[in-house]
Amino acid sequence: MRWTTTSQLAHLCLGLADVTRAHTIPSNQTVQAGHHVIFSYPGLQPPDHLFDLIKQGKVGGIILFGENVGANLSTVVGEFQDAYKKSPAYAGVPLIITTDQEGGKIRRLPGGPEMSAKQVGQSSNPKHAANQAAKDAASALSDYQLNTNLAPVLDVYRQPGDFMDSYDRSFGNTSALVGTCASAFITAQQDAGVIATAKHFPGLGAASTNENTDEKPVVIDQTLGQLRSVDEEPYHEAIAAEIDMVMTSWAIYPALDSKYPSGLSKKWVQGELRERLGFRGVTITDAIEAGALENFGNDAERGLLAAQAGMDVLLASARNVTQGEAIVDALVSALQEGSLPTEPFSEATDRILALRRRISA
Ligand SMILES: *[C@@H]1O[C@H](CO)[C@@H](O)[C@H](O)[C@H]1NC(C)=O
Ligand SMILES: *[C@@H]1O[C@H](CO)[C@@H](O)[C@H](O)[C@H]1NC(C)=O
Ligand SMILES: *[C@@H]1O[C@H](CO)[C@@H](O)[C@H](O)[C@H]1NC(C)=O
Ligand SMILES: *[C@@H]1O[C@H](CO)[C@@H](O)[C@H](O)[C@H]1NC(C)=O
Repeated sequence: MRWTTTSQLAHLCLGLADVTRAHTIPSNQTVQAGHHVIFSYPGLQPPDHLFDLIKQGKVGGIILFGENVGANLSTVVGEFQDAYKKSPAYAGVPLIITTDQEGGKIRRLPGGPEMSAKQVGQSSNPKHAANQAAKDAASALSDYQLNTNLAPVLDVYRQPGDFMDSYDRSFGNTSALVGTCASAFITAQQDAGVIATAKHFPGLGAASTNENTDEKPVVIDQTLGQLRSVDEEPYHEAIAAEIDMVMTSWAIYPALDSKYPSGLSKKWVQGELRERLGFRGVTITDAIEAGALENFGNDAERGLLAAQAGMDVLLASARNVTQGEAIVDALVSALQEGSLPTEPFSEATDRILALRRRISA
């Protein structure tokens, strides 16, 4: 129980703003860890167990896929928020309900944006097209009561047919065009009351056609100079546009860290994104079950590694509820053992709750 003493001591030394913050962190560590995990489920009808976990406060949000989308999705989403609102673990803020509504081929919900990122970038007025695409995405999301979009993509593709270009998911092959489109998208998305997410930091634009982190480990051998001047460049504009969330990539970038993929790397998450670029918002991982992480243990171990690297939100998107539950349980054990330091984790919880305070159910 040494950690309790340490955290009590820490509280004695906090300033007024920090004391206010400390009060927003739930004292129950299971409920606290729950804020950090986004769950998923198979098919149209969510399992009862997911509702039980929501009531226990173990669920921070839910990501939806095509297989979850039926005529009554809006009702189902309303039931998630209601179950949470009535639970003793309710934190006074909605669950994050999210999907990939990027545009073009990557749309999980019926509705816009019909234009792909590539078409937006190629249009006669890319800034205007990006603004419209974000409004269309917001409209599709709000039809089903979703509050968060895992878009826009900030990856700057290199060659026609590269992994991101092959699905038309990149706004373009220059940082300037991607930065212009992304920041217009972000501003319009967030003005419409929807959380936006810039992805996949520091960039998947250099991944070639078959380098898919969902399937296997991917190594991106760009120099730090290239990564900073091409791939990271649009993040300056996204951060200036006050982007809510940044999703890290699962590729390995040996220029900065030859061992850990970006989302498991302190060097990328803390050194580059927070310290060098100055990002103060919420970080979210890509899919924890991704093939890129095959050398990093089971899903619970991967989730813990990401949290230890400083990632705020962990994406359990394998479409089974046990995956998310295993991650929450691993976080709680690690908090209790001391292998997940409580102070930075509580700062992360606070960022997540502050973000959720800005959306309505
Ligand atoms: C903490 O929350 C969990 C999940 O809601 C619950 O099962 C547990 O009893 C709570 N623990 C305490 C000490 O209140
Ligand atoms: C939603 O639709 C599915 C499939 O038609 C059905 O099994 C389920 O009971 C419905 N759920 C709600 C909450 O209406
Ligand atoms: C981007 O693509 C265009 C053709 O679509 C090409 O002319 C241009 O050289 C490319 N720019 C870079 C930086 O690769
Ligand atoms: C749920 O997902 C985890 C990992 O993502 C996997 O190990 C487990 O077998 C899955 N369970 C079911 C019932 O599909």
